[in-house]
Amino acid sequence: MAVEKTGALVLAAGKGTRMKSETPKVMLPVLEEPLLWYVLKNLASSTVSESCVVVGHGREVVENYLAENWPGVKLSVQDRQKGTGHAVMCAREWLAKSDHVLVTPGDVPHLTGGSADRLIEEHIFSKAACTFYGFRPEDPTGYGRVITEEGLVRIVEERDATEKEKKCPVANSGIYVFRTRELLESLEEISSDNAQGEYYLTDVVGIMSRKGQGVKVVLLENAAEASGVNDPLQLASASMDIRDRILEKHMKQGVRFADPTTVYVGPKVKIAEDVEIGPFVQIYGNSEIGRGSKIGSHSVLKNVLCGERTDLKGYVDISDSRLSNGVAVGPFAHIRNGSEVREGAYIGKFVEIKKSRIGAKAKVPHLSYIGDAEIGERTNIGAGTITCNFDGVNKHRTTIGSDCFVGSDTMLVAPVTLGDSSYTGAGSVITKDVPEGSLAVARSRQANIEGWAHRKKKQGGQS
Ligand code: UD1
Ligand code: CA
Repeated sequence: MAVEKTGALVLAAGKGTRMKSETPKVMLPVLEEPLLWYVLKNLASSTVSESCVVVGHGREVVENYLAENWPGVKLSVQDRQKGTGHAVMCAREWLAKSDHVLVTPGDVPHLTGGSADRLIEEHIFSKAACTFYGFRPEDPTGYGRVITEEGLVRIVEERDATEKEKKCPVANSGIYVFRTRELLESLEEISSDNAQGEYYLTDVVGIMSRKGQGVKVVLLENAAEASGVNDPLQLASASMDIRDRILEKHMKQGVRFADPTTVYVGPKVKIAEDVEIGPFVQIYGNSEIGRGSKIGSHSVLKNVLCGERTDLKGYVDISDSRLSNGVAVGPFAHIRNGSEVREGAYIGKFVEIKKSRIGAKAKVPHLSYIGDAEIGERTNIGAGTITCNFDGVNKHRTTIGSDCFVGSDTMLVAPVTLGDSSYTGAGSVITKDVPEGSLAVARSRQANIEGWAHRKKKQGGQS
């Protein structure tokens, strides 16, 4: 028997009215990844052959995200949001390519790949035209209800349900597998004659059942997998559930959290064994934390690669940057825009590093701004040093060699280069290149006017 192909169709064109947000619902972040990321990730871990997302409301934002992050995922467009049934119809051409299709809402982030596969297996095995998950939520309010009577199955939306139907405890998960041919046929028969004036996908279930095509309801045991995200409360609760699962996974792999109830770690983050994470830490994006590292409290990391034994002393904010083995940072430091801090270097208190490379064992210990710069190995940057990289129109580079000693409060007016082993005097404003091995002093000489204060006092002035 030829293997029958099952594609996955994600419905993500809706407005998400109950969110009351300008951002399309599926793009709202959960631990800094869009809701849609979770749905696609779960599908990617299932056996579906290909995924297609129906986009519509806020189409450009969703399309750009998919093009950049999910290049293999196909798109269908629903120009006007006329309901879930209409959304599926808009993907007609793509649907015709597979024998079966798993349809899932874009706002159900918890369904595991395993549960998707189980539904597909039940569907193929039972030869039904439609197999879908029902579930028993603690509170079914807002969900469609699965009504089984006289051997027939139908789904009634909450807003169209009678009081008796509302008492039915089995809710529709919105996750179905259909035989594509029958799905396309029945979609032609649905109408928008209901409380919301929409073409409901749920009506297809009743139609297929009446036609005797076989509809199978499978109860999803872990009801939490089907919970949808429709309003800010459900978004926050999904976020907390996902966070708990992520932290549990890391703890089982040997990561220690002083107080996991205050820590947030995104789903793509990798953390090695023997890492210690303080309270109120947030780590997101494609971050990786190497073995034996310590992340001090209140630190926020996004897209940061930390080598082994890095020591972030707390209250550091680092993004899109790389720290090599043994780097120490903080407290109170900000490192960003593709910066690279090499092995054993130290970035200290109240320091900002932007788009710069800091050489191995170099030190920027206090109160500095280093932007568009390169600092050589073992160089020491004195307190208060600033790279003056911006002339009001353009940004310019500062290059500092190895083994340099930049005196406190040096202003480095870029573009400027300091040769290896050079020094600058404290308080200098360096506007010209400094040759290798030299000392540059660029400040007015100190004049001591002897007896000045005594003379002033005699004249009756304040001393
Ligand atoms: C839907 C189901 C309901 C089920 C629930 C499960 C229908 C009519 N109702 O209700 O039975 O219990 O999901 O979570 O299907 N969408 C489009 N185009 C549209 C309308 C919606 O793409 O024109 C997308 C939305 O972006 C969303 C998904 O379809 O991702 C579900 O839509 P939503 O409005 O959230 O449906 P529910 O009211 O939750
Ligand atoms: Ca929903």
